[in-house]
Amino acid sequence: MLAVENISKNYSSGSKVKAVLRAISLTVGEGEIVGLVGESGSGKSTLTRVIMQLEATDEGTILFNGSPVTKQSRKAFYKECQLIFQNASAALNPSWTVREILMEPLRKSKGDRDAHICRMLSKVKLTEAHLHRRPSELSGGERQRVNLLRSILVEPKLLVCDEIISSLDRLIQKEIIDLLIELNRETGMALLFIAHDLQAVAYMCDRVYVMNDGGIVDESVKVEGKFDFTHPYSTRLFGAEL
Ligand SMILES: Nc1ncnc2c1ncn2[C@@H]1O[C@H](COP(=O)(O)OP(=O)(O)OP(=O)(O)O)[C@@H](O)[C@H]1O
Ligand SMILES: [Mg+2]
Repeated sequence: MLAVENISKNYSSGSKVKAVLRAISLTVGEGEIVGLVGESGSGKSTLTRVIMQLEATDEGTILFNGSPVTKQSRKAFYKECQLIFQNASAALNPSWTVREILMEPLRKSKGDRDAHICRMLSKVKLTEAHLHRRPSELSGGERQRVNLLRSILVEPKLLVCDEIISSLDRLIQKEIIDLLIELNRETGMALLFIAHDLQAVAYMCDRVYVMNDGGIVDESVKVEGKFDFTHPYSTRLFGAEL
């Protein structure tokens, strides 16, 4: 469904040029949960921004269902592919109520938007009582669930999650992960789950890419609950977890 082909990107500051993404290729199939792990600074968020057409590349193509995603096809792409960021508080307008926040992505849709929101609330374990609160009146976990719900209201085929659980405590992390797995099973929504929490990735992903210094160095499919990494960097990275 999503195919990232040979993406390279440099950042230049003054006369220095730094390669941030080096010939990255990856795929996410329909209904698949794919992980992307790598240390801080390895280029994960840059790649996310490139996939979501928020930043240009120097080389390479993003394909969705076989067609290249371009500035022109961006709108159609966003109906199928949504992004959710780490910081739920920053992503939510503090002066809006949850209802207003959730109405926004549906502004162009026909039909009863309130009814749609009410139907979807239970998918992220929120209730109608939450609709009248503002983000400051929610817990961190509830805020991330509102953020999640906002992204899935348009019922995308693929959700790209960039470090969405990093700022939450263990229990809430598990809650969000289980929600994502449930959504995946129920709706077939595929996930590209980007994280440096190896445990979470090992738990939820069908397939994992390992990124190091702007390049993909390893890839492994989960077989009988286990990954089989071959690159020394990934065995070191996952060593303690597997
Ligand atoms: N706009 C920019 N201009 C110049 N350099 C940048 C820019 N954005 C990111 N970088 C650099 O690119 C590299 C990759 O950053 P990126 O945010 O993609 O890493 P990351 O893997 O998401 O890290 P983290 O796990 O900490 O979120 C870093 O060295 C960063 O300093
Ligand atoms: Mg990042």
